[in-house]
Amino acid sequence: MAKHDAPGGSPRRTLITGASSGIGRATAELLAREGHALALIARRQQRLEELCSSLPANRPAHLALGADLAEPAELERAFKAAAKHLGGLDLVVLNAGIGYRARVEDLEPEPLRRLLSTNVEAVLLGAKEALPHLMAGRRPHLILVSSVVGRRGMPTMAAYSASKAAVCSIGESLRIEWRHLGIQVSVLNPGTTATEIFAVQHNPKGLKNPDLSAADAPEAVAAEILALDRHPQPERFLRWKWRYLAALGLVAPRLADRLFASRDWMPPPPER
Ligand SMILES: NC(=O)c1ccc[n+]([C@@H]2O[C@H](COP(=O)([O-])OP(=O)(O)OC[C@H]3O[C@@H](n4cnc5c(N)ncnc54)[C@H](OP(=O)(O)O)[C@@H]3O)[C@@H](O)[C@H]2O)c1
Repeated sequence: MAKHDAPGGSPRRTLITGASSGIGRATAELLAREGHALALIARRQQRLEELCSSLPANRPAHLALGADLAEPAELERAFKAAAKHLGGLDLVVLNAGIGYRARVEDLEPEPLRRLLSTNVEAVLLGAKEALPHLMAGRRPHLILVSSVVGRRGMPTMAAYSASKAAVCSIGESLRIEWRHLGIQVSVLNPGTTATEIFAVQHNPKGLKNPDLSAADAPEAVAAEILALDRHPQPERFLRWKWRYLAALGLVAPRLADRLFASRDWMPPPPER
């Protein structure tokens, strides 16, 4: 059974990766308002410091940690510093991630390695580093930010989709592996969300990105993360249609393929 917060309402000690923008930043803002004490990790430390100083002050004070999570030594150092500063960890949100938009024939080894290091290896190693602290935590919970494309591969996103499918698998494994430790594990699958991810992703052929005018706001995803922390759930989608589309891919894959092939951001076929 999950442990509960100590009497007297001790603040939740929360580590968030990828908090310098988008979903991670919105989550930091929301959880700080909820009284969490935060350790925030991303490469752009100055952005994190500015964010920390703009948040409602909690105790222990929020901490900004600049680290490249694709580098295992930096990840280990940052997680240890976070746990030391907060005096333990109750909630860990592994959210940092990057995109990669390319047809498979345009994939290049170095950006591919970076994608998999950031989106997959850092999640596995982050979970490993978090484990001893969560074991001693109050109502301990690991939340993994995957994606709807982790449950349904998308054209021109084979590498990114594969990395997010791995995150869903990691969540499934850890849910069982950590059950006897009383650590909850939840996977969140956002759909298209209006963040920097599309502008900064590797996109060597300049392929068209989805229309962000109808995308979710990062604050909406942050609200789901808070809801998950209150009521852990194995896997959560923001919209039922994404859950159905993921299921459709399993029960009627050709029909699901046709649906995605008709989307307006699909690139023309390659020249022969
Ligand atoms: N936006 C969407 O449509 C969408 C949909 C489904 C799932 N997601 C997932 O949501 C998560 C957050 O993405 P977002 O949309 O909020 O994108 P974002 O605004 O680009 O934020 C990504 C965050 O990850 C950090 N990051 C990237 N590489 C890192 C590295 N090597 N080491 C440390 N931090 C790193 C970035 O900070 P620095 O650059 O400062 O390092 C940034 O804070 C990702 O896992 C993404 O796959 C996004």
